[in-house]
Amino acid sequence: MRGRVNFNTKKVVLGGIKDYINEIRRCRRLILIACGTSYHSAVATRQLLEELSELPVMVELASDFLDRSTPVFRDDVCIFISQSGETADTILALRYCKQRGALIVGFTNTVGSSISRESHCGVHINAGPEIGVASTKAYTSQFLALVLFGLVLSEDSISKQSRREDIIDGLQKLPELIKEVLTCDQKIRDFAENLYQKSSLLVMGRGFNFATCLEGALKVKELTYMHSEGILAGELKHGPLAMVDDTMPIVMIIMDDPVKTKCMNAYSQVQARGGQPVLICNNDDEELIKLARRYIAVPRTVDCLQGILCVVPMQLLSFHIAVLRGYDVDCPRNLAKSVTVA
Ligand code: M6R
Repeated sequence: MRGRVNFNTKKVVLGGIKDYINEIRRCRRLILIACGTSYHSAVATRQLLEELSELPVMVELASDFLDRSTPVFRDDVCIFISQSGETADTILALRYCKQRGALIVGFTNTVGSSISRESHCGVHINAGPEIGVASTKAYTSQFLALVLFGLVLSEDSISKQSRREDIIDGLQKLPELIKEVLTCDQKIRDFAENLYQKSSLLVMGRGFNFATCLEGALKVKELTYMHSEGILAGELKHGPLAMVDDTMPIVMIIMDDPVKTKCMNAYSQVQARGGQPVLICNNDDEELIKLARRYIAVPRTVDCLQGILCVVPMQLLSFHIAVLRGYDVDCPRNLAKSVTVA
């Protein structure tokens, strides 16, 4: 955020795209394309981008996007998100869209990478070098960069002024709040002690935190080699509920936000089948804390930023489970930091 957000004037400047903003605002739709964790950052911010830009926003896995030969037009804006800037599927999707005349915007963490060079314009994520294979700070920084993008797109909208100001105030407090989340480390380690010998972990939530579930489950899979699934709580009754019993380890993310009531319904359904989820909830949600047997409480922020705080306990949980299982958290088996083959 440093150098980009002025917290006094509530102004956001993204130098790498400022000459293209009008063209982006006039587009037919925004298409966010990426792989793995970078894709999850697109899922995490889609709702906010739709709200702030009032444009249709598609979110695509690069490999699937190419398999489908998806129609792309000159008035589309295609946004490629990549920590390395060298992911083969993402680069191939970029070239596919460029050939069809779309505007190409790169969000990468690597200055001079293929994606940053082949884009018409872009935003550097500025997370610093990420050495471990599991993407962590790149995820939160991609999330943040996409939020800033939404703020820039909505700068001229009077009706969105107060929402924008709330988000910018929320951004200012984020570093302190993340430090607060990190103080839960010992509690999270204790949960890991209970989980590390299990063979599966389900992570459930919805709304702004569906992406947190997908990303949390991916971290568990790649670091602990344990089966893990991120489940949209709204889909529970359509299949996943069959897996729930008193032996199934479950984490549920229930924030005090517009989908809380729906999440609470899912919580009741899970409990009715004997499930005893660990909740990730707001630290001032006394009603929920009273109900919960086991919980990790995170501070409250603006609904659309809450995923940045909620993902940290999941990152720590997968870290601790992996260490307890005796695995190398920096270099998980079978994976490379940068996937340069399609
Ligand atoms: O470098 P990229 O962001 O393009 O990489 C995409 C994925 O390979 C990557 O995000 C992967 O899912 C993470 N390393 C998982 O932690």
